[in-house]
Amino acid sequence: MEDELKRLEQEAAAEIDALDSSSLESFRVKFLGRKGLFSTVMRQLGQVPKEDRPRLGQLANVIKHNIEERFEQKSVEISTPSSASGASEDLSLPGRSVPFGKLHPVTQVMEEICSIFEGMGFAVAEGPDVELDRYNFEALNIPEHHPARDMHDTFYVSDSILLRTHTSPMQARIMEAQDPPLRYIAPGKVYRCDSDITHTPMFHQVEGFLVDRNVSFADLKGVLTSFTQKMFNDDLVLRFRPSFFPFTEPSAEVDIACVICGGSGCRVCKRTGWLEILGAGLIDPEVLKMVGYDPDVYSGFAFGLGVERIAMLKYGIDDIRLFYENDLRFLEQF
Ligand code: FA5
Repeated sequence: MEDELKRLEQEAAAEIDALDSSSLESFRVKFLGRKGLFSTVMRQLGQVPKEDRPRLGQLANVIKHNIEERFEQKSVEISTPSSASGASEDLSLPGRSVPFGKLHPVTQVMEEICSIFEGMGFAVAEGPDVELDRYNFEALNIPEHHPARDMHDTFYVSDSILLRTHTSPMQARIMEAQDPPLRYIAPGKVYRCDSDITHTPMFHQVEGFLVDRNVSFADLKGVLTSFTQKMFNDDLVLRFRPSFFPFTEPSAEVDIACVICGGSGCRVCKRTGWLEILGAGLIDPEVLKMVGYDPDVYSGFAFGLGVERIAMLKYGIDDIRLFYENDLRFLEQF
């Protein structure tokens, strides 16, 4: 029996070395199971001479313990393969990459717009999102009860304070504080109670205006045409459409041929082939008078463009709401 126990120990040791995850259970059944080889040998203990039984019993226990321990160790190695070879860390593996944040696509486009206008000599000024009614409306020739207020779907904070509905209040703020000549852009967030595939309740505008002697509509057209060519790097067609703003006269809305459908009509351009990107005009003499400028001496132009609209055209995005859903699969593409 002693020989058989020792042979069993050697056989088990050899098999343990060759074990893999698929053979672990069959080894356990074969050697350590109730009807396994070890139990079979142990059953012979009753037939050995009485005086040899304690010694052989003790030997059997030691051998069983050894087999069990080696088996346990092998099982652990198999379930954690990197420690099996004794190399707990593989220093040649590439490091885990840390995801980097990026600028939001609207911020990227906003920065690009600003740098194009800065290249044309415009200075940048920023104003408050929470604005006085006086600057948002009154100073822009939109008195109380003026029907143009309805166009804006305003969020009011109190009777005289609101979330600015456009960046145009910056025209009044800057003109009030400085004398011409002026050439400014004012980028920022604006708010309107409005939401569909081309409108969001918060969006971005870049206001631009220039005041000097002898400024004409031709200057406005030249600046805007030059801007769109730089922004889109091709001969994108521009359309000036007569419009109305109480603070400009004459006024225009500027459309760009829809880049989503190529002008043939889609849900983004509402089947017209055109997408409106900005409002513009020559600053109304009434506005100039309100800040103390003489409209017989000075004239100016102003425009306010929608940054999200430009971003949609630039990247071929057909739903403005995608910008604000915080879906990383969308945002990571920019
Ligand atoms: C204005 O806000 C005028 N202040 C623009 C202006 C400035 C005219 C200076 C004359 C002189 P309008 O409401 O059309 O105009 O908005 C200007 C641009 O903002 C639009 O052409 C459009 O591109 C964008 N826009 C307007 N509403 C939304 C909205 N809810 N979501 C996203 N973009 C919008």
